[in-house]
Amino acid sequence: MLIAQISDTHILAPTSQHPAADLRADCLRRCVADINQQQPDAVIFTGDTVQHGEPEEYARLRELLAPLNVPIYVVPGNRDDKGALRNAFADQAYLPGDGDFFQYVVEDYDLRLVAIDSTSAGERKGVFCPERQAWLDAVLSAQPDRPTLLFIHHPPFDVGDHYVGGYRRPEEAAALADVVSRHSQVAGLLCGHVHWPVECNWAGTSARIMPSIAVDVRKGIDESEAHERPIYLLHQLSEETGLVSQARMVDASV
Ligand SMILES: [Fe+2]
Repeated sequence: MLIAQISDTHILAPTSQHPAADLRADCLRRCVADINQQQPDAVIFTGDTVQHGEPEEYARLRELLAPLNVPIYVVPGNRDDKGALRNAFADQAYLPGDGDFFQYVVEDYDLRLVAIDSTSAGERKGVFCPERQAWLDAVLSAQPDRPTLLFIHHPPFDVGDHYVGGYRRPEEAAALADVVSRHSQVAGLLCGHVHWPVECNWAGTSARIMPSIAVDVRKGIDESEAHERPIYLLHQLSEETGLVSQARMVDASV
């Protein structure tokens, strides 16, 4: 199974005066075109889909995603408004219709996909409260022998000085690691939020953070000639080596 990951597109409304409004839309448009050429089985979208959580931004987001010819699975970031995000993706059968948490399981593939909601209204930092801890533990306990990939907006580990304390309570990030470490079928955790690429071992599995699709807020990649080339990730699970991830830099001609 080949999975494309996109994240932190921070799309702005068509009427926005923000200088990067059109650039961000173009970055996503080009990623979608390139993903269609690569033909993955699915796309995972790890949040901060829009900048302010406004309906006009989500309408533009859906327009930009419309050409995508494979299923897309989204989780919210701290920039998203969960109600507006739900409305924008209401045609997606996998989404929970209501409730406080934007979390779900995709059972359509050999690789089980588990979407974890790390957001709470008005909170910039990650949240993983006891209800979510119990939900994830039950989900993972239900099918212990099936390879499973987790995706979430906030990475539950520190990646440098700029991100110390990425969760509102350190014990909530520790609880996520504790749950995952008890389930050896977890092949990896995919994250966004910090806008730069990171890979590490975490909780007995591997974790990836992808750079933001929005190149104007992307960090950690400063090749000046490549600055306007968006990057997304392609993931595949190998029996020999576990999760294999490659960065796909969208060609300037796309
Ligand atoms: Fe972001």
